[in-house]
Amino acid sequence: MSTAQKKRLLQVENLSIGFSQYVKGTQKRVIRPIADMHVDIDEGEIVAVAGASGSGKSLLAHAVLGILPGNAICSGSIVYRGEELTEKRKEQLRGREISFIPQSVNYLDPLMRVGRQVQIGLDKKTAQEKQQKLFAQYDLKKSDGRLFPFELSGGMLRRVLFATSVREGVKLVIADEPTPGIHPQALFEILRQLKQFAKEGAGVMLITHDIMSALEIADRVAVIKDGTTVEISEAAAFEGKGERLKTEYAQRLWRALPQNEFDMEFREDVEKQWL
Ligand SMILES: Nc1ncnc2c1ncn2[C@@H]1O[C@H](COP(=O)(O)OP(=O)(O)OP(=O)(O)O)[C@@H](O)[C@H]1O
Ligand SMILES: [Mg+2]
Repeated sequence: MSTAQKKRLLQVENLSIGFSQYVKGTQKRVIRPIADMHVDIDEGEIVAVAGASGSGKSLLAHAVLGILPGNAICSGSIVYRGEELTEKRKEQLRGREISFIPQSVNYLDPLMRVGRQVQIGLDKKTAQEKQQKLFAQYDLKKSDGRLFPFELSGGMLRRVLFATSVREGVKLVIADEPTPGIHPQALFEILRQLKQFAKEGAGVMLITHDIMSALEIADRVAVIKDGTTVEISEAAAFEGKGERLKTEYAQRLWRALPQNEFDMEFREDVEKQWL
């Protein structure tokens, strides 16, 4: 799809998220891990959201999905398909039009066989067949479907989680770190599937530490730092010494990646927080 044809799917502006916490029993204070964050995604576009651990990537995802914890105070604007995304609308769309691949495998129901969990939301008549096809696609055995989450490895659970996101009619996919601990073939399959979502016209938010993998499929990259968007650039700008990147932070981050091995001073920070 050319840029001219693309329609804005999601627009997040001035997003701030705070938490009210009790200190010493009665005193209340508010911490604000996200302030003034913005990101936008067009139909058919893959936007990677990259940031160090704790920079606010999952909170951004949870705000769009309407699954922030009860003590969160959220402000700003989230517009989806031209309309404000109210909490009620988030609930209606979640797991249907807006599909989520959570970062934590704890989102799976520990007491339900994983095959069943992948069948939820699928057309009842074909659910089992579709689930088995998805398992084969993600290198899971047919018999794995009868297992409970605790009987699967971390990498297998991530693939099960991913399979739960593949639904017809999905328009926005939010994938929060879908690839850690996954062997190369399954990683390839996941990136391929995300690309396929985009090809079918869905927007994809790919949250990741792994910029190099993200660049294989992303159209743009939003760099997040300390709860704020530092820069959003075309994926193509992440090349050479990063001359086409707008901010020093993004340039240094790019140069510090092991593949580039330029900026040794920044590299230490990157290794601590990113890798
Ligand atoms: N329920 C909460 N109450 C208070 N602070 C929170 C809560 N959830 C997250 N935070 C804080 O918000 C910040 C951003 O958290 P978030 O989980 O979004 O980071 P992240 O970028 O997804 O990190 P990672 O890459 O490690 O997953 C962190 O400093 C975290 O401590
Ligand atoms: Mg996270």
